[in-house]
Amino acid sequence: MSASRGALVLFEGADRCGKSTQARRLVKTLEQRGVRAELWRYPDRTTKTGEMIDAYLRSESDTADAAIHLLFAANRWEKKALMERKLADGVTLVCDRYSYSGCAFTAAKGVEGLDLTWCKAPEVGLPRPDALMYLELSLEDAARRGGFGEERYETTEMQRAVKEMFESMREPWWDVIDANRDEEVIEREVLEIALGAIERAKSGEPLGTLWD
Ligand code: TMP
Ligand code: MG
Repeated sequence: MSASRGALVLFEGADRCGKSTQARRLVKTLEQRGVRAELWRYPDRTTKTGEMIDAYLRSESDTADAAIHLLFAANRWEKKALMERKLADGVTLVCDRYSYSGCAFTAAKGVEGLDLTWCKAPEVGLPRPDALMYLELSLEDAARRGGFGEERYETTEMQRAVKEMFESMREPWWDVIDANRDEEVIEREVLEIALGAIERAKSGEPLGTLWD
C-alpha cells in the first residue's frame, strides 16, 4: 500500500451536460501526468443489482420507486469496500454520477414520502467525494445538444425536475462548472479542481463519509 491515498473526484449533472466526456478525458490526462486514476460510473450495470437497474431503466421491468432507489444505493454499497481499497492504495477514482444523482432523480419524481431526507438515508456512510464538479447547462442548451435517448427519465419534464432538485441540493463546497463552453476550456478547469483534490488527499486529508 502506498503512503498517500487517492482522491474521489465526482462529476454530477443532468443528462447531456458532458459529464461522461469530461470524466473520460480527465482520467486520460491524469494518467499522462503519471497519476494513477480509474474511471468509475454509477449505476454499475455489470453487477447483479446493476442488471436489475439496467432492466428498469430500459423499461424492461418495473418496480416501486422506493425499491429502485434502494437498489441504486445498494449498487454503491456493494462497491464501497473496493472503492475504499483503491483509494487507500493511492488510486484516484473519477466517478460519473453517485449518490447525488441517486437523490436528485428519486426526489425529482415527487412521490409522496420519498423526499430528499428519505432519499439521503440509505447513502449515509458511503465515501464522500473529495471534489464534486456539477456541470451546469440550461435546459435549452442541453436540448440543442440532440435528442434524448430511450431510457426512463430521459424526458424534458423529468430533466427539468432533476435540475431543480440538484440546485436545491447544492452545497458551498461543490464546484459548479459552466458546461456551455468549449470542451477544452472546461477540461482545463476540471483538471485544476481534480489536481487540488488529489493534493489534499495526498497531504493526509481523511476520506469523509456522506452526508458530512
Ligand atoms: P447514466 O445515463 O449515467 O447511465 O445513468 C442512468 C440513469 O439513472 C440516469 O437517468 C440517472 C439515473 N440514476 C438514478 O436514478 N439513481 C442513481 O443513483 C444513479 C447513479 C443514476
Ligand atoms: Mg443516460
